[in-house]
Amino acid sequence: MTQRRPLIAGNWKMNCLRADGLELVSALVAKAAEKGSLGCDVLVCPPATLLSDVVNAAQNSAVQVGGQDCHAETSGAHTGDVAAAMLADIGASYVLVGHSERRADHDESSTVIRQKAIAAHDAGLIAVVCVGETEQERDLGATLPVVNGQVAVSVPDGASAKNTVIAYEPVWAIGTGRTASVAEVAEVHAAIRAELVERFEDGDEFRILYGGSVKPSNAAELLAVADVDGALVGGASLKVDDFWKIIETCA
Ligand code: PGA
Repeated sequence: MTQRRPLIAGNWKMNCLRADGLELVSALVAKAAEKGSLGCDVLVCPPATLLSDVVNAAQNSAVQVGGQDCHAETSGAHTGDVAAAMLADIGASYVLVGHSERRADHDESSTVIRQKAIAAHDAGLIAVVCVGETEQERDLGATLPVVNGQVAVSVPDGASAKNTVIAYEPVWAIGTGRTASVAEVAEVHAAIRAELVERFEDGDEFRILYGGSVKPSNAAELLAVADVDGALVGGASLKVDDFWKIIETCA
């Protein structure tokens, strides 16, 4: 069976001023240094304003840094946007694309998300492509077609396990305290894995993260599910002790 190194990723969303962000990343870097070897890769995705500071604070540590979004174009007249190459230029190594908050707040389609993933790859970044069904879609029994459809369109043909991570985040579980059950997570992750294996030569090596109210109390059971190769953590990633406990689940 393929061994996939887990990835625990923190999505800070639109939180943290400079002092908070630096305190958070410095505490994480210190814990990682004290621990020595970790059982997973660790990523934090701060808001764009803090990327540079966080990259500096995390230099030569086990903590990697990613953006929360990038534009599909390499440069140009796109006020307020950030290009993937700009993220790479300041030392980020990952970028989230297609988070449900961007799909909802900014009307991003899976087609746009695929273009963003391609831009990320072209800039040498690892794209974390986020997918997930709404509560209404789940109630209609449409979870698997919705998620498989999002993966089919959002993940570009040039993707590989080296440049792409999938994050399954049921929209109804994000920031709500509600978590998908082990059976629900297992079913969706297996469906995503089957789709990746059918489409990509190294489909078995892609990491598939679960996200949606992951916290220390449920991390162990979620991370033990087959084809769950890590977590994308929102709220709990803002508290260093909670985030660290989730990281230690992989030790
Ligand atoms: P949450 O957010 O852990 O606060 O539910 C997860 C995410 O949106 O990535």
